[in-house]
This record gives sequence, structure tokens and C-alpha cells, in this order.
Amino acid sequence: MTRAHDRLLIIDFGSQVTQLIARRLRELGVYCEIHPFQKVTDAFLASFAPKAVILSGGPASVYWQDAPMPPPSLFGLGVPVLGICYGQQVMMHCLGGKVEGGQGTSEFGRAHVAPTGEALPLLEGWFENGPEQVWMSHGDHVSRLAPGFRVYGTSPNAPFAITADVGRRFYAVQFHPEVHHTPKGAKLYENFVRLAGFTGDWTMGAYRDEAIQRIRAQVGEGRVICGLSGGVDSSVAAVLIHEAIGDRLTCVFVDHGLLRQNEAEEVVSMFRDHYNIPLIHADESDLFLDALEGVSDPEEKRKTIGRLFIDVFQKHAAAVGGAEFLAQGTLYPDVIESVSFSGGPSVTIKSHHNVGGLPQKMGLKLVEPLRELFKDEVRALGRELGLPERFIGRHPFPGPGLAIRCPGEITREKLAILRQADAVYIDQIRKHGLYDEIWQAFAAILPMRTVGVMGDGRTYDYAVALRAVTSVDGMTADYYPFSHDFLSETATRIINEVRGINRVFYDVTSKPPGTIELE
Ligand code: XMP
Repeated sequence: MTRAHDRLLIIDFGSQVTQLIARRLRELGVYCEIHPFQKVTDAFLASFAPKAVILSGGPASVYWQDAPMPPPSLFGLGVPVLGICYGQQVMMHCLGGKVEGGQGTSEFGRAHVAPTGEALPLLEGWFENGPEQVWMSHGDHVSRLAPGFRVYGTSPNAPFAITADVGRRFYAVQFHPEVHHTPKGAKLYENFVRLAGFTGDWTMGAYRDEAIQRIRAQVGEGRVICGLSGGVDSSVAAVLIHEAIGDRLTCVFVDHGLLRQNEAEEVVSMFRDHYNIPLIHADESDLFLDALEGVSDPEEKRKTIGRLFIDVFQKHAAAVGGAEFLAQGTLYPDVIESVSFSGGPSVTIKSHHNVGGLPQKMGLKLVEPLRELFKDEVRALGRELGLPERFIGRHPFPGPGLAIRCPGEITREKLAILRQADAVYIDQIRKHGLYDEIWQAFAAILPMRTVGVMGDGRTYDYAVALRAVTSVDGMTADYYPFSHDFLSETATRIINEVRGINRVFYDVTSKPPGTIELE
């Protein structure tokens, strides 16, 4: 099917912040895709037909043997090109300039770029109050411009901080406009896409219609099953697919007995009653909790839950009859192929619970309508589809659920206590207007009892740990700095309202070295 919007191609040379370029562009209503340099051949470029190209930063040096390079046809395409950091060096190297390394050529962190006095449309809105702060991170720098280029901004260690060949619409900067430490960076991207002729046609309204057409084209008269977790991604996918194919979608909600207070009821009532989506509520809590009895090793817990989940899902999906497709809420960050220079396998910190093996096992084809979206775009699409705000803004909840918030052995008693403590904690956070400032917050029940005194009596009860973090993607996180008043009010409420708890801790560990969940 032909696409309704123009496309921008980002060639990734391995920078840690390439995804941020895509974020900035999507915020401007520009559809873009990131592809690793190894994959971007002349043939790929021709079939992708970008309206503009951005060359990312990266850790290599252009004068290395086999240094990563774009395909030869790139600079003859006639489309605007923007080179960032290593991308700038690539442009100079390919077009006849010179790049040097060694002493005095590197610059890391904040720097200030001053204008040379010549006007450049790419810099509209820049230098209104003198030099601009930018973020540099380079070991090499350009020492001679390629023919046709002029310099429009300089910094102490990057004499060619901003360069351009206006006639060919080639622009190249030594700093990273995509990071927050370059405050006017978004403006630079805005100017670039305007000069390239983008109209900002990547809107959620347009995406919704296009995605619906694509789902219809893929599924035809077939049936789709969708595993609903209650999280934002699978919910948005389900509602979108339902708009596309109506009741040929059936959702399967596996309740493993490890959900939060009222969670199952909320999910079931929203999908069944509000959206009228056919939904199988598989209450398999006994099966899961019996299998987890006596299991305290975190990896064994995760594997047990993952295995049972697949079995149960398969059983209920089979009952739907005749489904050929399985819907998944896969997001763009899961799809982007990363550029790896080391190539080594990374260590398994935790076995994430997912249903990755399911489609092959069940012989189903995948429908992944969110594959092109970032998380905040999924939220925007959810709003477009009318999902309630309270639901869209929900903190992430892990597949293994409360199991990994109950270190040590899981019992029904501990789960019941944990649910109540968690509900009080989240209620406190909402009441204080902090929910949206926090990336994820939850209570965990610790595998110990401690002595306390309540009234005139001794208590010997469980302790809970409260966790709240700020994060962008869950990969790193900081603990949230609640006020002492908030913490003491919350601890008092939990101890007063939840029987079985006599002590409350607040977890002040960042990630790393901690992880967000306790197991
Ligand atoms: P950790 O504990 O690894 O968590 O720092 C990072 C983020 O991932 C979530 N998480 C999971 N999500 N299946 C999921 O769907 C899992 O097995 C799983 N384990 C952790 C966690 O809640 C946090 O948001």
C-alpha cells in the first residue's frame, strides 16, 4: 500500500542517542525510520526514497580502515542531508574535506557556539542572544571543509561547528542537537525539515486511519486473537484492531492471580462493557499460584510464569477457533536494529516475561500495529481512540506481576497484604498529584517479619518496601525524592489501614546499581 506521508531516513552509525533524533522529528510531525549503516545500500536507499537523510553520530573515526560509511549514491540523490557529529565528519570525508584526531581535537560536554555572522536558514531562531549552548561529544574534528561548504558557527575546539553547502542543501554540525543539553536543538531540526519540504503530516489521526487500512489489508476476512495484559500497549493495539475488523478480534486476558487490586475487574469491564470487544477472561490464578508454591528463586518464578502463560494462552486461544493471526503490542524501540561494534552477547539480568515464542508455536501470523511507534506515540494514539486518560497514563506493570514484588516465597496471604498496601500507596501518590511525575511506583512485600508495638501490644508482622522512580525508558532510573511529610503520612496510612504490616521502608536505590523491580 502506498504511504500517505513523506519519509525521512536516519542512517545510524552507532551513537547512543540516535533514537533521540527520531523522537525530535516525530514530535515535529515527520515520519522517520532509523536503519543501521550496514543495511543502507544503494538499493535500499532507492527503495526507501527518503525526502531527506540524517547521518547520526557514532564512535568510529572516518580515517579508520573500513570506517562506517553511507552508500555512494547518497550525495547524488538530490535530497537534503544533515550530518551530526560523526555524520558531519563522514560528509566532509566523502565530499573532499579533512578530519583529524589527536591532541586538542576532542570536546565533551557543554560548549558554546558563536555565529560567524553569515545568515543560514537552518539557524533561524538561533544566536538571537549571542552564542548558543550545545552538547559536544567528539574525539576528532573537521580540519578542512569540503568544497562548497561554508562555516556558520564555531566553538573553541570545533572551528567548523556548523557548516553548510546551501546550494546542495547539505548541512553538518559537530554537536548533538537532539539532546536536551542543546536547548535550541529542536529548533534546528524544525528548520531542517522545513527546508526539506516536510509538511508535518505524521499525525495520530492520520496514523490511525492508515493503520486501520493496513490491518484490514493484512487480515482480510481472517480472525485475530490478542493477549491483553491491561497495559497500555496491548490495550491500544486491541482497540485499534477492533476498529479495523470488529468482532473478528477476540481478546484473551490471562489472570494469573498476580494482578493488583481491582485490576482484573477494571480491564474486563472496560473492554467487554465499554468497548464491546469479545473478551475471554481466563481466571487461572489457582493454576499459577499452586505452581509457584515453595518457589523462591527469582529466575525460577519468572520461568514458571512464562511457561504457564504460554500454555494457558494457547488453550484459550484454541477455543476461539479459526484464528490465523496473533496481535502483539510490539513498539518501535523493540524493532530498531541496533548498531553493535563489540558484537558480544549481553548478560541476562532477568528473564523477561514475554510471549515471544508463541506465534511460531501456535502457527499464527503476527499483527503488530504499533511497530512504528514510540511509547508516547502509543499514548497519543490511545487518546485518539478515546481510551480513558487514567488508563493511558498508567505506570508500566511487569508481565510476572506481583510475583516479582514478593521476594522469596509467594503466598496468597502475602499477595493480599501487598495488594492493599500498594493500593494505599498509589492512592497517596494520586492524592498528592504526583502520579504523572513518577515513571513507576509500587509496593513490595519483604520476606521477613519484624517486631513492632501497636497500642499496648507487641506485633510481629510483615514489612513493605515502597519504590518510586523517574526514568525515560526503564533502562536507567533515579529514585523519586518524596518529602518526609509524604513518606511519614503514607507509612502511617499503610500501617493503620493494612492488617499484617507493621513497618514501611522507602527504597532509595537508583538503577543501576539496583533494578526497578525487586526481582
Ligand atoms: P527492571 O526491574 O529490569 O525493570 O529494572 C525495568 C522495567 O521493566 C519492567 N519489567 C518487566 N516487564 N515483563 C515485562 O513486561 C517482565 O518480565 C518484566 N520485568 C521487569 C519493570 O516493571 C520496569 O518497568
